[in-house]
Amino acid sequence: MHRRLLRPTLLPVGRSLAATAAKTAQPSSLSTAGRRLLCTVPREGAHSVHFRNSQSVHPLGVEKRALPEGEWVNPTVNHVWTSDEIKERLATQPRHQPETLADQACVGFLRAAYWTFNTVTGYKAANPTTESVAFRLIFLESVAAVPGMVAAQHRHFRSLRTLSRDYGWIHTLLEEAENERMHLLTFLRAFEPGPFTRATVFLTQFGFGSAFIGLYLLHPRTAHRLVGYIEEMAVRANRRAILRRAILLSGATLRRRAARSPQVVTYTNILEMMETPGTHLHDGWREMPAPEIAKTYWRLDGDATMYEVLQQVAVDETNHRDVNHTFASMAYDDPNPYVAKHAEAQAASAAYWQTLSAPVEGRGKDFDMKERLAPEAGGGAKAAM
Ligand SMILES: [Fe+2]
Ligand SMILES: [Fe+2]
Repeated sequence: MHRRLLRPTLLPVGRSLAATAAKTAQPSSLSTAGRRLLCTVPREGAHSVHFRNSQSVHPLGVEKRALPEGEWVNPTVNHVWTSDEIKERLATQPRHQPETLADQACVGFLRAAYWTFNTVTGYKAANPTTESVAFRLIFLESVAAVPGMVAAQHRHFRSLRTLSRDYGWIHTLLEEAENERMHLLTFLRAFEPGPFTRATVFLTQFGFGSAFIGLYLLHPRTAHRLVGYIEEMAVRANRRAILRRAILLSGATLRRRAARSPQVVTYTNILEMMETPGTHLHDGWREMPAPEIAKTYWRLDGDATMYEVLQQVAVDETNHRDVNHTFASMAYDDPNPYVAKHAEAQAASAAYWQTLSAPVEGRGKDFDMKERLAPEAGGGAKAAM
């Protein structure tokens, strides 16, 4: 009997579950008679033909293969942006005008934080090196993944202790935290962090994490507003940096002055530099292949490049901007207007993976889809069980 297979968004996931299954190794009703039939489309490093590479736990507890033979498919589904959505969301970037004293404090704090960070690290936005941008991406994404988890945890515990509903915010916040963590994991596959980066990330988590937890406890709206401004800053087009780069690349006499001024790095600027011949980012990153983890997460083609990944990341940030500014303007018990988007993303993800997954004939094969061996040969399913 053929079973429909690999619904990545619905099945239990993870090595811990696989490990648990391996310990118990109890044959289930899904064993040989109800053979789990596997998808047929080979896709190296992503959604594969084999259960070892899938996110499902084998009913007989067979261990999964470790990386790099297979890549994990993240069950927290993200919206994959189309090229039209990318163009539109990067071309039109709304900005929230500070209204309250708290809003202005957030903007002032961020400006000071970025100026200090750029000055201390000597960042030159006109034509930064790939190393300096990689450091920034890893550092900033390690920070960006904090607020969603803090906010989700806060609302989760609040729901428990007040015996009340959450109104659908938690899932969106968790999805944001996971999305930011996937940004980080993607960059870690492409750029190796050194001891300085690791130490900076480690220490910053204590400082920023503690401060954000305190802020969320005291004033959740301001916390969301702060994140909204951070996301604006992460993605907006920095016109001054673009102008300076134009001067720098044209070899004008202002070259030295242009290169001296620190600026905020934004994803829009990174993409623009990757498109501009003569920049370090164009030379170093324009043709870089996308890491497998990114191709799986954003469901990109096998020959996708880092440029396409950065487009997805950039537009993810515009989404975080919108979500957090919206949450900052809502009462804590207003229903989350983004809940439906998650259902759409889940449906699109399931449709995509099922396109790549077709049932195959399992008769005469073992549970691992190899030819079944005779019992006397010392192999086969019974020996494994
Ligand atoms: Fe991010
Ligand atoms: Fe973000």
